[in-house]
Amino acid sequence: MSENVFSQILAEVSAFAESTNDLATLQNFIAEIIPQRLPYYNWTGFYMLDPKDSETLVLGPFRGAPTEHVRIPVNQGICGAAVAQNGTVIVDDVNSDPRYLACSLETRSEIVVPIRVNGAVVGEIDIDSHDLAAFSPRDREFLEKSAAIVGGFIERTQAVSSDAK
Ligand code: SME
Repeated sequence: MSENVFSQILAEVSAFAESTNDLATLQNFIAEIIPQRLPYYNWTGFYMLDPKDSETLVLGPFRGAPTEHVRIPVNQGICGAAVAQNGTVIVDDVNSDPRYLACSLETRSEIVVPIRVNGAVVGEIDIDSHDLAAFSPRDREFLEKSAAIVGGFIERTQAVSSDAK
């Protein structure tokens, strides 16, 4: 079941990425479609490295409860850990992970997947679930493919804007 849902979402996100040149528009589309199709994704959003301060993540488009964590230093949180490790971080039980920065009391598990542009981390997709251990290797693969679409989009649109100069 979910295998088809994952491929369907990826197909729609890829097609949408061809239809816009605006990163926030693409991020909003992803933040909207994913939790609609995958109800255990209770908070879905983006954190991007501040172009003026590469040690700090800044909250981007998201769906779910408002969070006080609008800026996260890369040495804090599960979000910071994904940048520091340059890799996906899955936490099956956030309450037993001392790195965890609470967003909602209902959150039980979290996955954070880096977005890379020309090999360098520029941000991440962050998902929280109200279920313990909600994220399987299939979720990880799906989100890493989603992050690759966003990274490829940034590479393409940056190239377009510098070509236009
Ligand atoms: N839980 C994250 C903070 C972001 S909120 O979940 C939206 C963390 O530990 O970095």
